[in-house]
Amino acid sequence: MSDAVFRRILITGGAGFIGSHFVRLALAAGIPSVVVLDKLTYAGSLLNLEEVLDDPRVRFLEGDIADPAAVAEAMAGCDAVVNFAAETHVDRSLLEPAAFIRTNVWGTMVLLEQALRLGVGRFLHVSTDEVYGEVLSGSVSEDEPLRPRNPYAASKAAAEHFVFAYWTSYGLPVLVTRGCNTYGPYQHPEKFIPLAITNLLTGRPIPLYGDGLHERDWLYVEDHCRAIWTVLVRGEPGQAYNIGAGQHRPNIAVARALVRLLGADPSAIVHVADRPGHDRRYAVDWSRLRALGWRPMVDFEDGLARTVAWYRARTDWWSARRDAAFAAYYARNYQGREGYRNQP
Ligand code: NAD
Ligand code: DAU
Repeated sequence: MSDAVFRRILITGGAGFIGSHFVRLALAAGIPSVVVLDKLTYAGSLLNLEEVLDDPRVRFLEGDIADPAAVAEAMAGCDAVVNFAAETHVDRSLLEPAAFIRTNVWGTMVLLEQALRLGVGRFLHVSTDEVYGEVLSGSVSEDEPLRPRNPYAASKAAAEHFVFAYWTSYGLPVLVTRGCNTYGPYQHPEKFIPLAITNLLTGRPIPLYGDGLHERDWLYVEDHCRAIWTVLVRGEPGQAYNIGAGQHRPNIAVARALVRLLGADPSAIVHVADRPGHDRRYAVDWSRLRALGWRPMVDFEDGLARTVAWYRARTDWWSARRDAAFAAYYARNYQGREGYRNQP
């Protein structure tokens, strides 16, 4: 990729999983100036940017997208904004929905306001296929209504409504991507694939919610970033773009593949209580994005093997993070939601 089409890009949430890969992609594409604004919540870390923090083109700002002063400073001089910053874990949203509204909805609105004030040329909001709710058969196009079913998805859908309102009301050139389940290096070990890998590496079981037949479409993180880049450069303002992988698997198949890759015993897969409101299946039609020239390059077996190799090699990255996050998370008062407590 060599489209050096922007002078300065603001990447919010660039110290998180997908955002940090996108920072590397933007630099590889030759962008002369990349500003990262990240609150460094439990989910973010400067370690995710270890390869690029010393690059003179990168400016890292620790700050909150819900803070107008921090956003104004970060966005100054930017001709494009890509908003990754979010609370992202569905399980946490079931326990603490308020944090999701604050960052995902209010924070997005603060970014939109500043983008409008500063006349930003491209505002790409990273959304999710979860906004459609569960898709029991077939696949959904971008024209389907949004029917989110958990607090995380509801907050992402609400944010999207604001993003499109700024397009129709004020003409802010917005773009939205709705990506499917993403995996790869640097993903926080609370999410299913890294949780399963790090559990197996530490002799723990894989906690499989319910019957394990819930189905997701699995997208390798670098493919997701190339898709976002394609939409940023070639997308039509005012449009949403689905991002799928064509790699649908029930969770139990993912668990079994990981057991095989890690040489564990099949008894390491343990069924636990289901997630409340657990969406049975997601599936998007991404022909609109395909028409822009993007297609996924990494198939699931290859991506999973690369991911396992990375987690095997990077115990230094995940072990303290996993322990700290899990200790804080599970020490909380569950306020009547104790039945919903699955991780070993
Ligand atoms: P992540 O949880 O790994 O990272 C989120 C980042 O945002 C962290 O660095 C965190 O510190 C930062 N952040 C959180 N609140 C903030 C705030 N108020 N101000 C500034 N920074 C803040 O998330 P991810 O999995 O990389 O997801 C990135 C984006 O992609 C999210 O918007 C998510 O909804 C979307 N998405 C994720 C997936 C997936 O499978 N991971 C799929 C589709 C879409
Ligand atoms: O679809 C895109 C979404 O994918 C993103 O928008 C979210 O940010 C991201 O977290 C992800 O949401 P999911 O809820 O699908 O991902 P998670 O990794 O939490 O779970 C994947 C599947 O595995 C889901 O069906 C629930 C199941 N699961 C998850 C965990 C953490 C288990 O069976 N056991 C577990 O311990």
